[in-house]
Amino acid sequence: MPIDPALVRASLARVEPHAERAAAYFYGRLFAEDPALRAMFPPVMDVRRERLFVSLGQIVALLDRPRDLREYLGQLGRDHRKYGVAPEHYTAVGRALIAAVRRYSGHSWDSATESAWVSAYTMAANHMIGAAAETDGPAWTRA
Ligand code: HEM
Repeated sequence: MPIDPALVRASLARVEPHAERAAAYFYGRLFAEDPALRAMFPPVMDVRRERLFVSLGQIVALLDRPRDLREYLGQLGRDHRKYGVAPEHYTAVGRALIAAVRRYSGHSWDSATESAWVSAYTMAANHMIGAAAETDGPAWTRA
C-alpha cells in the first residue's frame, strides 16, 4: 500500500492543537500494553511528551523528500539504540501511536487514513530498525 502524504498530513494537523493530550494518551496506551517499556523512559516526561509529535511532523513534512527522510530516520534509529530500543518494540509503539492519532484527529478518520498511517509508520520503523542494525560500535559514547 503506497503512502498517501496528504491523508497523513491532514490528520496530523488536526491532532496538533491537542498534542499534549494526544501524547499523554499515547504513553498511557503504550505502558498499558507493555508495562515493561515504562522503565525505558524517564520518571517525569512532561517536557519530552510532545517531542514525539514534533518528530512526527518532521517525518510527515519529509514524505516527499526521500533522501532527507532517510537521513533523518537513520539518525533517529541510531539514536534509539542508546535507549535500549529493539525491533520488537516498534509494534506496540505503532499501535499506540495510531490509536492516539485516530482518537484526536476528529470525525474525518476513515479506513483510507488508517491505511496511510500504517504504511507511513511501517516505512519509518523499517528505516529506523535498519539503520540501527547496520551501525557498528557502541550505542553510547563517552562525553
Ligand atoms: C517511528 C517511530 C519513532 C519515532 C518517530 C520516535 C521519536 C523519538 C524522538 C524524536 C525522541 C526524542 C529524541 C531526543 O530528542 O533526544 C524519542 C525518544 C525516545 N524514544 Fe522514540 N521514536 C520512535 C520509536 C520508538 C520506539 C519503538 C521506542 C521503544 C519503546 C522508543 C523509545 C524512546 C525512548 C525511551 C526515548 C527517550 C525518552 C526520553 O529520554 O525522554 N521510540 N523518540
